[in-house]
Amino acid sequence: MSLNVPALRSSFDLVVEREPQLTHLFYDILFQRYPQAKPLFRNNPRQEQEKMLTDVLVKLMDHLEDAPWLVRELGALGSKHADYGVTDEMYGWVGSSLLAALEQVAADEWTPELAAAWTEAFQAIASLMQAGARQHADAE
Ligand code: HEM
Repeated sequence: MSLNVPALRSSFDLVVEREPQLTHLFYDILFQRYPQAKPLFRNNPRQEQEKMLTDVLVKLMDHLEDAPWLVRELGALGSKHADYGVTDEMYGWVGSSLLAALEQVAADEWTPELAAAWTEAFQAIASLMQAGARQHADAE
């Protein structure tokens, strides 16, 4: 996978510095656009969800060039998501909401290059998670 790593890292740093509550904004956008996603998030309080998502995004930024880590960790995460009731279609909801949150915070600094870099990265992440979910389903 050839990602635009410098663009991803520098924009993530910029966004998190401007808005440490990025994942709060992300969930606002997700639930506003896709209220049907809300009942899936039933196990943990929202603040906890936000922290878990922030932590995994930070880890992802650290491992963008570590293919074995990405395959292993995202495969396992995808498999857990299948158990939460997450379907392939829902990855589109999360991807577009995450992009919208990043764009809103980056504002003037948002460029077509960044939009492309994040779209590509999200597609790669979603594919690895979906592959993990399918393996999990096959094993059952
Ligand atoms: C980039 C893709 C995604 C990432 C990085 C991600 C990350 C996470 C993380 C770190 C957790 C914490 C628990 C765990 O380790 O399993 C989690 C839980 C969860 N995610 Fe995701 N997720 C992604 C996509 C999605 C999608 C597409 C949906 C569907 C709307 C979704 C719904 C959920 C639900 C329902 C939970 C469990 C909530 C609960 O325990 O109440 N996620 N996600």
